[in-house]
Amino acid sequence: MAIVGFGNLGRGLARVLIEKSEFLRRTQGLIPRVVAVVDEHGAAVDEDGLDLRRLLRVAERKGTVAAHPKGKRGKSALEIIEGTEADVVFELTPTNIKTGEPGLTHIKKAMQAEKHVITSNKGPLVVAFKELDSLARRCGVEFRYSASVGGGVPVIGLAKGLLAGNEIRAIRGVLNGTTNYILTRMSKENAPFDVVLHEAQELGIAEKDPTLDIEGIDTACKITILANSLLGVNARLRDVRVAGIRNVRPEAIRLAREAGYVIKLVGVAKRDLLEVGPKLVPLGHPLAVGGTLNAVTFELDLAREITITGFGAGPQETSSSLLGDLIDIHRVLGG
Ligand SMILES: NC(=O)c1ccc[n+]([C@@H]2O[C@H](COP(=O)([O-])OP(=O)(O)OC[C@H]3O[C@@H](n4cnc5c(N)ncnc54)[C@H](OP(=O)(O)O)[C@@H]3O)[C@@H](O)[C@H]2O)c1
Repeated sequence: MAIVGFGNLGRGLARVLIEKSEFLRRTQGLIPRVVAVVDEHGAAVDEDGLDLRRLLRVAERKGTVAAHPKGKRGKSALEIIEGTEADVVFELTPTNIKTGEPGLTHIKKAMQAEKHVITSNKGPLVVAFKELDSLARRCGVEFRYSASVGGGVPVIGLAKGLLAGNEIRAIRGVLNGTTNYILTRMSKENAPFDVVLHEAQELGIAEKDPTLDIEGIDTACKITILANSLLGVNARLRDVRVAGIRNVRPEAIRLAREAGYVIKLVGVAKRDLLEVGPKLVPLGHPLAVGGTLNAVTFELDLAREITITGFGAGPQETSSSLLGDLIDIHRVLGG
C-alpha cells in the first residue's frame, strides 16, 4: 500500500494498521505492507515495508515523513504513485471542491498505473465522479470512497451491501457534525447562532473558517457523492439546492420543539431532487441525533425505512471505513 497524505487520517490509518496487524492476519488473511508514505514535503519509501511506529514518531516530531531515514525530501506524490510497486493507493489529501486537486490527479495517475484506490477526499468525487468511476473500470481497478461520507458510519457500504436488492427511493441525512453540534447546543441553551459557533470553534469542533460547514456545502458534497454512487444519477455539486444554518434563530428552534420537532440540517437525495437545508424532524425520529453525530435514513421499496447513525469524523472512527474498503478490495480480489 501507499499512503498519500499523512495528516489526521493518514496517521490514524497507520496507528490502526499497527494495532490490528495480528487481527487482520487472523480474521482476513490480510498482511498489509505500507511501502510508501507521502506528505506535502516529501516521502518515505521502503519496498520491504516501512516501520509504521518509527514513521509516526518521525512525522510527529519533525512534521514530515521525509525526515525518516528512508525519507526523500521534495519527492512528490505523483513520482511516488508512478514509481511504487504498491497495489493500493490511499488518497488522503485535503479536500478542494472547486478543482478536486491535488487528489483528482493523484487518483487518475494511480488508476492509470493499475493501482486500486481508496479515498476519503470529497473534492475529486464532487468534481469528477463519473469520470473516475469509468476510469477505474477501464483500468480494471477497484475504487472505494466509503470514508468520504459519514466518516465511520458505513453509509455507502450498507447501501451497496445487504440493501443492494432494494430500490432506494430517497436518502435523507444529517451529514455534518459541526452544524449538528451547533443546532443541538442552540436548542439546549436557547443560545444564538454566533455564540454557539464561537464556542464550537474554541472546542475545535468548528474550523476557523466554518463557511463550508455552516453554509451547507459540506453536506451538499456528501449528497452529491451519495446521489452519484447510490442513485445512479450524474450529479454535480451545482445541482444541489443549498441553504445553511446561519439564519436559524433560537425562537424558531423553541417553536419547533413546542410543536414536537427539532431543526436539523438535512441533505436529501432523490433521483429528481438534490437539496440541503434546515428541516423539521419529529422528536424521537431516528434522524433526530444530537451533538456531532451523523445519521442517514434510506427510504427503500422492500425494507421500507432504515436509519444508520454514528460518528461522522475523527481519525479512529474514519479509519474504520478506510480499513473496511481495504478488506473489501482484498475479498473482491479473492484474498
Ligand atoms: N479528519 C477527518 O475526520 C475526515 C473524515 C472524513 C474525510 N476526511 C477527508 O480526508 C482528507 C484528509 O483529512 P485529514 O483530516 O487527514 O487532513 P489533514 O490532516 O489536513 O492532512 C492532509 C495531508 O495531506 C498532505 N498533503 C497536502 N497536499 C499534498 C500533496 N500535494 N501531496 C502529498 N500530500 C499532500 C498534507 O501534508 P503536510 O502535512 O506536509 O501539509 C497532510 O499530510 C480530507 O480530504 C478530508 O476532507 C477527513
